[in-house]
Amino acid sequence: MKLSTRARTLRPSPTLALDARVKDLIRAGGDVISLGAGEPDFDTPIEVIEAAHAAALAGKTKYTAVAGIPELRAAIAGHLCKTHGIAVEACNILVTNGAKQALYNALQTLVDPGDEVIVFSPYWVSYPDMIALAGGRQVAVSVNSTTFEPDATAFERAITNKTRGLIMNTPNNPTGAVYSKTILEKIVRIAAERNLWILSDEIYEMLVYDGMKHISPASIGGEGLARTMVASGLSKSYAMTGWRLGYLAAPGEVAEAAATIQGQMTSNVNTPTQWAAIRALEADPEKQKCMVREFEARRTLLVNGLRRALGKNVDIPEPKGAFYLMMNAKNYLNKRFGDYKFEDDQQLAAALLERGRVAMVPGSAFGAPGFLRMSYATSRENLQKAIDRIAVFFNELES
Ligand SMILES: Cc1ncc(COP(=O)(O)O)c(C=O)c1O
Repeated sequence: MKLSTRARTLRPSPTLALDARVKDLIRAGGDVISLGAGEPDFDTPIEVIEAAHAAALAGKTKYTAVAGIPELRAAIAGHLCKTHGIAVEACNILVTNGAKQALYNALQTLVDPGDEVIVFSPYWVSYPDMIALAGGRQVAVSVNSTTFEPDATAFERAITNKTRGLIMNTPNNPTGAVYSKTILEKIVRIAAERNLWILSDEIYEMLVYDGMKHISPASIGGEGLARTMVASGLSKSYAMTGWRLGYLAAPGEVAEAAATIQGQMTSNVNTPTQWAAIRALEADPEKQKCMVREFEARRTLLVNGLRRALGKNVDIPEPKGAFYLMMNAKNYLNKRFGDYKFEDDQQLAAALLERGRVAMVPGSAFGAPGFLRMSYATSRENLQKAIDRIAVFFNELES
């Protein structure tokens, strides 16, 4: 069978591939600690499960409008307005199968073949392929390699007459950075001056630490609201990855066009899930706060543990949001562990997995060769074991 060029050139998600490899090793009896997970290890709140059950029993099992049930669209608009100061209404909301489909729909709606889309690098693994599927070209603009904040001047310099928009992500996967209001104001100002749209991936919106607050570019003045499409959902902040409940919040004509695209692809999101999502958004925020506090404690445990284990060889930044830590491992390249030799981050991550028995994602998957990404969405006990193994592995490296 001749496959299309599109199907042949698309790459499988490297993070999902690592996850599959780790699961294979564990199934075969291997003692591996995975710091590769991209999902909370917490259970979905029981009242959300009960709401889905009740909806199914009440016969809420038929097709709904493609954009979602009005009650959920209103609840999402209310949440964005109340929690993040984004002045949207139900008609601006498209309910999608995870934030992934929100991003995909937005790009299919906004990108024509040959258009350039700027992405801050390191970037989430799916952006390049989603842009390519829309016929666009990704232009990567590096962020500061220590603070991981974007540089407004570098952003402005990358704009050409083919540039249509920017994808940004705060709190950030893979770096854990949370963008400041100052940088967001600069991004919005440049986007307005150069007539660009902003696709803002806010899937980690509630996972911020040290008393910081997540800020959306859509909350920054009239220009921010008019130019920003927010892609988010319940996967990470509500421990609901498998439910596939995301949304796009966008200016009316974009939301409508994106719904038309979704209507020819998947139609509405699973109906009982939509009813359950209303319950998640209305739930007592205390449970979610408990999860956030636990992530914050794990973040501190991992940062302190790595700093102690690796000493001055490497700078360990303190992430402020999401549940990832990005480490610059360039000092460890071109070294040997026993008979293993590695020249790049992919070989280093493979050696760490096979010999060190700790799974991490190589930075090159995110456009950041020489880095390693760790997830702390795992128990403190696992994190402590991982730190001990990392200490042994890195301290036994030979030149
Ligand atoms: C930055 C980022 N955006 C989007 C997604 C996709 O989220 P969802 O599972 O809701 O589709 C992820 C999941 O890993 C992510 O890390």
